[in-house]
Amino acid sequence: MPNATPRKILITSALPYANGSIHIGHLVEYIQTDIWARFQKMQGHTCYYVCADDAHGTPIMLRAQNEGITPETLIEAVAKEHQADFAEFLIHFDNYHSTHSEENRQQASEIYLRLRDAGHITTRTIEQAYDPEREMFLPDRFIKGTCPKCGADDQYGDNCEKCGATYSTAELKNAISAVSGAKPISKESEHYFFKLSDFEEMLKGWTHGGHLQSEVAKKLDEWFEAGLQEWDISRDAPYFGFEIPDSDNKYFYVWLDAPIGYMASFRNFCAKNDVDFDDFWSKDSEAELYHFIGKDIIYFHALFWPAMLEGAGFRTPTAINAHGFLTVNGQKMSKSRGTFIKARSWLDHLNPEALRYYFAAKLGHGIEDLDLNLDDFRARVNSDLVGKVVNIASRCAGFISKRFEGRLSPRIAEPELYKSFVEQGSSIAQHYEDRDFGRAIREIMALADQANRYIDEKKPWVLAKEAGKEQEVQDACSVGLNLFRALMTYLKPVLPEMAENVESFLNAGPLNWGTLQQPLEGTTINKFKPLMQRVDEKAVEAMLEDSRETLTSTHSNANTVDNTQNQPSKKSSSEPDTTSVEPVAEEIQFEDFAKLDLRIARIVKAEHVKKADKLLQLTLDIGDEQRNVFAGIKSAYSPEELQGKLTVMVANLAPRKMRFGVSEGMVLAAGPGGKDLYILEPHEGAQPGMRVK
Ligand code: 2FM
Ligand code: ZN
Repeated sequence: MPNATPRKILITSALPYANGSIHIGHLVEYIQTDIWARFQKMQGHTCYYVCADDAHGTPIMLRAQNEGITPETLIEAVAKEHQADFAEFLIHFDNYHSTHSEENRQQASEIYLRLRDAGHITTRTIEQAYDPEREMFLPDRFIKGTCPKCGADDQYGDNCEKCGATYSTAELKNAISAVSGAKPISKESEHYFFKLSDFEEMLKGWTHGGHLQSEVAKKLDEWFEAGLQEWDISRDAPYFGFEIPDSDNKYFYVWLDAPIGYMASFRNFCAKNDVDFDDFWSKDSEAELYHFIGKDIIYFHALFWPAMLEGAGFRTPTAINAHGFLTVNGQKMSKSRGTFIKARSWLDHLNPEALRYYFAAKLGHGIEDLDLNLDDFRARVNSDLVGKVVNIASRCAGFISKRFEGRLSPRIAEPELYKSFVEQGSSIAQHYEDRDFGRAIREIMALADQANRYIDEKKPWVLAKEAGKEQEVQDACSVGLNLFRALMTYLKPVLPEMAENVESFLNAGPLNWGTLQQPLEGTTINKFKPLMQRVDEKAVEAMLEDSRETLTSTHSNANTVDNTQNQPSKKSSSEPDTTSVEPVAEEIQFEDFAKLDLRIARIVKAEHVKKADKLLQLTLDIGDEQRNVFAGIKSAYSPEELQGKLTVMVANLAPRKMRFGVSEGMVLAAGPGGKDLYILEPHEGAQPGMRVK
């Protein structure tokens, strides 16, 4: 039912950085938000969904320099790519803008000046690492060196990937600038700070005022206990961003003007569409404001952002809706496994609506991580959408078209059944409203089962062969199509393109909760065309293969494994990911299996490999010979604990030339990676050289 009192709703998703491609990790959020926005619009509310590229900061500046182009040229190209990807995933923004825009410059300056004039900004001199060659201050993530705790080389300025230690850049040994390779010096500079603690009381009230998920509010309590620190909002030149008004060559830190980008995008929209900006942002606004974000950027959205808005005299958000991260096949997205899937690679091989459906089926209102299991994905889409939903229409449409010139029965034959489908609409709507999309989908699929059962019982294909059963055939198929219409109405926020095709097929106007009240009686349908193809296993494999080959750009995103904000990719090493446990991709024949020469091996020597993050060099005794193997198990084992152990190796793997030498085989290990990795150890009595059968 359309809501009796239309609401005014403004919705945003986090702004993607303008230095990398959109991938499926990002898409969880945009799909979630888009479904919610489409649902609200279907309820008849005034609802706008806006976004923008997050265009400022050091990584974007440096990437442009490396490519020999201006940052403006870079962000323009990325903006085009992002918007094409979003459009093909049917993510419909009412406006898409950029934080590098005039609206944002003005809005950021206004907010800053209001905060400054109200006494919430302070300045002080701090010391920071400085690259004397490139003449720039270095963010922690642009400094590399040796971990002061475990001695691992090639670690970033603030934490060690190997032992997990956190430290200050001053503690890092043999520090070098990741930009030029020069040794950083320490240099003083004046910085501007936002006095977050001025808002402590307001924030304590706000964070417990029903604007946050309960698990998020709890997290914030920990931060309050730790004490609210002043927030450094300035950066020195050279920096790609906005100059701070009345400052001496200081720039706003990217995270200061990023959320203001929500306002700027909306302002840009208002100017083009004659909508009143203040209606949505003034202190006394009655409109609702929702920010959808990943759980890693809660601090910015639930503390800095409401404080900035409050301090500058604007309204605060109605709610921050955080979600969890995406894993693929139960593991972090990985380039070597091909599961770091760009939006474009998906589009090249698979249907975007299939991903929308799968994410919807798995999304709840909480911040738990979400797994895209590709086998489950295929099974679910094929069974639910193709096997259940589309099947209803394809079973009924032919009879109506061929025998009744497309005309449905003048009266619905099962009014009670139809009514129960309509009534279920309120509960499904409530689940959408609560962002419990998984529950909505479960209820819709239960209805689909019911509709299929009805057709199975009526058996129009049998009736069609019997004399004098014409009316019954028309009635059964008309009921089937009316039930199908209800299902597709409920799925419309998730499957907008398919719903549009169904609207053309049913020929009875837009699908909507409200119009469902009236069943289709005596109306004429159009010819049925296939609405969705089965997901082909080969297409999934081809996409994974493509992703393995084509990914080269840096990613920094709310939703991926590497959640470092505004920082370069952590991985730069040329080591292959030898520890990764590949998902079972395809069935193999016995002959393929028989080709493996698995042998018991004794680790007679284990050593560190210089300059290698993940590898240990093993000397393996397999009875009649010794093998040199580089194994990616350093995160889980020290050389000492391996020496003397028995394990299992693939002995007939072709030798592989690596940066550090030739690897003559592979050791078998199990586990997700990191510390949780276990080499296979044979049972007592096994001897080096024995074949594993
Ligand atoms: O984490 C990110 O990818 C940021 N670009 C999100 C910014 S959201 C908002 F504050 F602009
Ligand atoms: Zn370390």
